[in-house]
Amino acid sequence: MGYDRKDYYFEKARKEGLRARSSYKLIEITKKYQIIRNNDSVLDIGCAPGSWLQIVKKMTKGRIVGVDLVSIKPIDGIEFIQGNIEDAEVQKKLKGKFDVVLSDIAPKTTGARERDQILSYILSRTSFVMAKRLLNTNGNFVVKTFQSQETEDLVKEMKPFFGFLKRYVPESTRQGSKEVYIIATGFKH
Ligand SMILES: C[S@@+](CC[C@H](N)C(=O)[O-])C[C@H]1O[C@@H](n2cnc3c(N)ncnc32)[C@H](O)[C@@H]1O
Repeated sequence: MGYDRKDYYFEKARKEGLRARSSYKLIEITKKYQIIRNNDSVLDIGCAPGSWLQIVKKMTKGRIVGVDLVSIKPIDGIEFIQGNIEDAEVQKKLKGKFDVVLSDIAPKTTGARERDQILSYILSRTSFVMAKRLLNTNGNFVVKTFQSQETEDLVKEMKPFFGFLKRYVPESTRQGSKEVYIIATGFKH
């Protein structure tokens, strides 16, 4: 790489009025895989500061709901729930069905690699449990996780529920990052 990708995407996001450089990961994912259609309802788990919501809003006229531990600056027409996705009370607040569930969720990293991987696996798996509960038949699910032994467990657990499943690392991922997205489409109960 001839330039620092971190600075490139950070600067690009700033110039384009996007809240985080992670927006480009969703742009790449949706360019490569048809995840979000015109009228889809979308749930975004771990949505703060809201750059995926900004992108999703441009892609659908459907209902959009975001959930995160930390609050976000409101976005017109988007429902936001503040709370922990592991919390049953927060899960209960997620009502209705969705065509798409996205989860860019990530734990606060501690630097202890194995611990961070396990925390990431737990959050990604909870996102999958929520997707199973909330997705419409044929719906799509995208979830981030830190690559580890457990990633394969999650893939194995998810596979029977989808028509198509693939691991994908976007170009705009920071160099050295161990994140991977699991792209799963065609939900079946
Ligand atoms: C990488 S950021 C998401 C960035 C977002 N996709 C965007 O583009 O603006 C990961 C988010 O997951 C959230 N998160 C971590 N643990 C969570 C939990 N237990 N419940 C809800 N959100 C959580 C964090 O607060 C953080 O905002």
